[in-house]
Amino acid sequence: MSGHVRHLYVHLPFCAHRCGYCDFVTVVGREGQHGRYVDALLAELELERGVFAERIETVFLGGGTPTFTEGDGLRRLLAALPSAEEVTVEANPETVTPSLARLLREAGVTRVSLGAQSFQPDLLRVLERRASPDSVRRAFYHLRDANFDNISLDLLHGIPGQSASALEHDIDEALALGPEHVSYYELEAKPGTRFAHAHGAELARQADAMEDYFELVVERLTEAGYRWYETANFCVAAEHAGGRDLRARHNLAYWLGRDYLGLGIGAVSTLGSERRRNTPRLEAYVTSLARRVAPPRDVERLDEGIRAQERVMLGLRLDTGLPLAAASRAIDTAALGRLERLGLATLRAQRDGRGTLLLTPRGRRLGGAVTVELLA
Ligand SMILES: C[S@@+](CC[C@H](N)C(=O)[O-])C[C@H]1O[C@@H](n2cnc3c(N)ncnc32)[C@H](O)[C@@H]1O
Ligand code: SF4
Repeated sequence: MSGHVRHLYVHLPFCAHRCGYCDFVTVVGREGQHGRYVDALLAELELERGVFAERIETVFLGGGTPTFTEGDGLRRLLAALPSAEEVTVEANPETVTPSLARLLREAGVTRVSLGAQSFQPDLLRVLERRASPDSVRRAFYHLRDANFDNISLDLLHGIPGQSASALEHDIDEALALGPEHVSYYELEAKPGTRFAHAHGAELARQADAMEDYFELVVERLTEAGYRWYETANFCVAAEHAGGRDLRARHNLAYWLGRDYLGLGIGAVSTLGSERRRNTPRLEAYVTSLARRVAPPRDVERLDEGIRAQERVMLGLRLDTGLPLAAASRAIDTAALGRLERLGLATLRAQRDGRGTLLLTPRGRRLGGAVTVELLA
């Protein structure tokens, strides 16, 4: 190995069914094709071996539903991937049996991200989820029984019909399980989707309450000892975790603007001044790789200006802020002054005379809108 990349993403697109709100690259069913797809992933990995550094830090298997992938294929894939300090797999609760949990653990997975979304049966129905609140809890305990000591829960706020008390109830249920990490996303309904059409009126009605809802999430999780380290992500703070840093290292690499390689349909890679996006078409992907040829992909050139803007957009999501030296050319200093006066951003001086730019808690809750203001 001779390259510099330390982060690997692998896309496993298969799902038992398609949830109405989901906009990811997914393929329903096709159980007979999972093995061929894994062969294609391994062929793509072989073609790209040269980009990796000696030591890989993180591997992330995302989906789709990685744990819906047929068992032999999943085992074969995990055995062939490079080993890494953090290996995360996304899992849907209804797929997590004791034997699946053991399979993952024995294959070297260190962290599982469980898609709970909510603990309310009626909201899970709105989302067209297959899992019940009980199956979320059962999956969590199967993972604990298999000795996973780093479990993340994915939850959503802004679900049509979700009241503030329902949100509180979800937070209570999540805290009762004691996950090391929580991702709390605002539900995004892409215009034009079946979901946006069915729930558009309710989503518009709820829109004004969103900032209050998210404030509630932040308040409850931080009171419970979680560190709000990224806009939508929380981990048990080191002082409550025996000094462990439980931030998601793979995602942290994205937010810090590091290079990564993505394998699979729809997968994105950022390699220096190049961003690649593989074809989302399963057949085209598998057929190319069966011939040991790289799959069809879009390639975008990233100049220094674009990368600096991305550093600002992503870096300001973190509680550690953005070292100004990394991206000062992308920042509008007049806008920065305005945002400081509004109490949305602050500049912290460092000993070496350079600054770190941080959003205040209110600025972080408003997120993207504040960051866009700052871009030169
Ligand atoms: C790519 S999905 C895959 C995980 C897994 N298949 C599942 O559904 O649990 C990862 C996470 O993205 C989040 N997500 C998916 N669609 C979303 C949307 N429209 N808005 C906000 N978050 C979404 C969900 O919380 C989900 O758990
Ligand atoms: S299971 Fe996950 S990836 Fe699959 S359709 Fe539902 S939200 Fe999307």
